[in-house]
Amino acid sequence: MKFHYLLAAVILLTAACSEKADRTLDVVPYPNEVRLRSGNFDIAGATFHLDENLPEYAVSAVADFARQLSKVTGKESAIVSGSSRTGVVLIVDPSLKNEEYHLDTSLKAIVLKASGLNGFLYGLTTLRQMLPVEFFSNEPSQEVEWVVPCSKIIDSPRFSYRGMHLDVARHFFSVNEVKKYLDVMAMHKLNRFHWHLTDDQGWRIEIKKYPELTAFGSIRKETIIGHLYSEQGYDGTPYGEGLWYTQDQIREVVSYAASLGITIVPEIDLPGHMVAALACYPELGCTGGPYSVWTRWGVADDVLCPGKEATFDFIFGVLDEILELFPSEYIHIGGDECPKVRWEKCPDCQARIAELGLSGNDKHAVEFFLQSYVTERVGEYLAAKGRKIIGWDEILEGKLAPNATVMSWRGIEGGVEAARLGHDAIMTPYSHLYFDFYQSENKDAEPLAIGGYSPVEKVYSYEPYVEGMTKEETSHIIGVQANLWTEYITTDSHLEYMLLPRLAALSEVQWCKAEKKDWNRFLESLPVVCQRYGMMGYNYATHCLGQSSVSPEAE
Ligand code: ACM
Ligand code: ZN
Repeated sequence: MKFHYLLAAVILLTAACSEKADRTLDVVPYPNEVRLRSGNFDIAGATFHLDENLPEYAVSAVADFARQLSKVTGKESAIVSGSSRTGVVLIVDPSLKNEEYHLDTSLKAIVLKASGLNGFLYGLTTLRQMLPVEFFSNEPSQEVEWVVPCSKIIDSPRFSYRGMHLDVARHFFSVNEVKKYLDVMAMHKLNRFHWHLTDDQGWRIEIKKYPELTAFGSIRKETIIGHLYSEQGYDGTPYGEGLWYTQDQIREVVSYAASLGITIVPEIDLPGHMVAALACYPELGCTGGPYSVWTRWGVADDVLCPGKEATFDFIFGVLDEILELFPSEYIHIGGDECPKVRWEKCPDCQARIAELGLSGNDKHAVEFFLQSYVTERVGEYLAAKGRKIIGWDEILEGKLAPNATVMSWRGIEGGVEAARLGHDAIMTPYSHLYFDFYQSENKDAEPLAIGGYSPVEKVYSYEPYVEGMTKEETSHIIGVQANLWTEYITTDSHLEYMLLPRLAALSEVQWCKAEKKDWNRFLESLPVVCQRYGMMGYNYATHCLGQSSVSPEAE
């Protein structure tokens, strides 16, 4: 009799957990291997059992998870150390790859295995998205069935560098907004935040050796109205006073990001895009100025003068403090859009060219090789301190600095060429991955944007490998990033509108194997994904949900 009960129970359990292929999960980015079974794990009130070797930030992530679960289910979930056959069990498994996780849900237990912090964070993130959407709400929802579908997930990312960029120079975003930005990046398993901290129109990070950079370099006396090319004049309103991060705030954000498994890659854009610094230290320019923090958008002719040794003292002085603040192996040194017109006429620059014995070639004038000299010298400085440089694809012009990683933005060619030369590359072509572009062809109904058209579907369609590349070359494409420049974005709500849900599409480009991407599956999940954004307090665009979007300006 007993035996029959047992047999019946086993048969029922097996049937309940039998494989079922026609369902999918509303998890974005979608895991690379999902085997769904029927049946559910009842998670309300479940105890969390933690491996004693769990990384510290994973312990706090579990605590956050359990706190939220207890709140929405109304049933307290305890956290204990050790292992168990029931409940939610987290196990450190050193045999798994960095960032890989296994999530096994049966009727009795959820077992999450990973080898390090990011794997655990991603497992918990997937689990959150397997729960009813009300998990993301701030209210208890007792009428909801708090269950997780039985399943086995084996998952790891396609690319190791999964980045999102933010320009805080053209318009500033507060520490709280940056943390919110990081939160939604973490929700989509991104692991690099490229923080564009300085530009012609404002310097936004405290450098103790050069206090003028924030005292004066953060403020522009006014801002061009409307689009750069529409000639509507200037607004007459100073912008930027106090709009910069103290070093304590930077440390706070760096450690917040680390707790989410995100490394911050700071960018100090040089030798171009430096007018804000030149306004404070005119002796670092070719003409000696005077300069003022730029009030319009575009590309300025005034750039740092590499003919003067003081310029390198300045760059290294700034970078010394950047290295103290940011543990990232990669430091982004910009390199984009650096006109050479001042260098052509500057006696110091020309003397430097002569001293170095530089010459041009059929592709590039000699001044391009002067920029290569700057990049190489800064790269050497950082290499001696154990760091690596990333530069925009202009650093390929002239001679590419040893060990430099290239961020390919003007197209894919820069990335392809870098890979061909045996350098690592990160793909961020503006054609698909500039989130300052319009999301609708009906531009009049949209808030002002820089131009272009990059709807969610186009972002989703991006494939980073290029036909004809060898296996060795594709191994140098280490990642993908989208960029969000903020010339025309002044509010948090508008920023989020430009980011979401394009970020969701980006995350599948970064995470999913090419053959696992599926636009229809993704599109079906988007309403739930957007519902989560709403519950978490984000604004988002709704074009791809078939609704007319409420633009931030119309709110
Ligand atoms: C860039 O968009 N200037 C890198
Ligand atoms: Zn010069």
